Amino acid sequence: MFEKLKPQPEDKIIKLIGMYAADPRDKKLDLGVGVYKDANGNTPVMRAVKKAEAKLLETQDSKKYVGLLGNLDFVAAMRDLVLGDSVDPSRVTGAQEPGGTGAIRQIFELIQMASPDATVWISNPSWPNHEAILKHLGMKIGKYTYFDDATCGVDFDGMMKDLDGVAAGDVVLLHGCCHNPTGANITLDQWQTVTDLLLDKKATPMIDFAYQGFGDGLEEDAKGVRLMARQVPEMLIAASCSKNFGLYRDRVGVALAVCANADAVPLTKGAIAALNRANFSFPPDHGATVVAMIMADPELKADWMVELEEMRTSMLSLRQGLAEALRRETNSDRFDFITEHRGMFSRLGLSSEQVDKLREDYGVYMVGDSRFNVAGLPADGLDDLAKAIAAVL
Ligand code: LMR
Repeated sequence: MFEKLKPQPEDKIIKLIGMYAADPRDKKLDLGVGVYKDANGNTPVMRAVKKAEAKLLETQDSKKYVGLLGNLDFVAAMRDLVLGDSVDPSRVTGAQEPGGTGAIRQIFELIQMASPDATVWISNPSWPNHEAILKHLGMKIGKYTYFDDATCGVDFDGMMKDLDGVAAGDVVLLHGCCHNPTGANITLDQWQTVTDLLLDKKATPMIDFAYQGFGDGLEEDAKGVRLMARQVPEMLIAASCSKNFGLYRDRVGVALAVCANADAVPLTKGAIAALNRANFSFPPDHGATVVAMIMADPELKADWMVELEEMRTSMLSLRQGLAEALRRETNSDRFDFITEHRGMFSRLGLSSEQVDKLREDYGVYMVGDSRFNVAGLPADGLDDLAKAIAAVL
């Protein structure tokens, strides 16, 4: 039967990981997949994670199943981290999911279960897996303009024009902060404008919140999401601990649903539990329990926040450094926008030929749309990188 399989479309981020690994050159630079790296190019296990893991190893006395919704302390901690006091917790339900991607997948399926004809609107561009999963599930996809190539900022007029096509019952997927792939983010005023539109259209927001703490800080990054959560009757959120806790391979994520009222919670909770059961039964425990332990221990939590802040500010100074180097090398302010963007990514605005040339001639790997991982920038090699970029312009 396998001969009947069709070749699958390639995911450009996954493809790039393979190409980088296969490149035999010593001098090569990986600015592809969104993984944090320190100044030595390592992706360390965070200090608080190490400590919590050591304690877990010592104290855990059973590996029996936890429950279909996973570790409920973790779910509650993530609810508070994301939503703060914006919504009465009695209106929120959720489940632990295998990573942010697992949460996205489960939320899409929940939408499909509740409203099979709903269109899910995604930004153009968006993280490529949004579209891939929606297609896989056979769901209707709408796209809204997001990025202005000329200004390298958000094309908010274009966005609102396209979102005018949203129908009642549709779902609009927004990036909570640190838009992937562009790094360009809407302002709080614009969050309000989108909230008004969703209320007017009777559409539901879905938030992909994979980078909380990587933009302007843990609280700052949640402001738009919370502003919206205060006003809309229903909301869906997929949050990830891959980046802000560095738990990538442990697959730690949460799917949260803000319901119209507490009475609506049991039905929604039951649907999410059933989806978990059908897709994988019980979510993986280790990473989520580590997060729950950190969030419950004031000392570990404080240390986690300090280390996360170090990561965030180091990415900001790399942004600054690259923009300055590019200013010198190109004798222009063309790339100054890099300092305005936030999060792990920005798009340089290069053509795919220029991106290919950077890879072939200089061993610099970035995604074909010229998205680069800010954390992968070499602090002591920014001039060389800027020279290479200037050379392919
Ligand atoms: C990325 O966009 O590079 C990350 O979210 C990792 C991934 O799974 O694609």
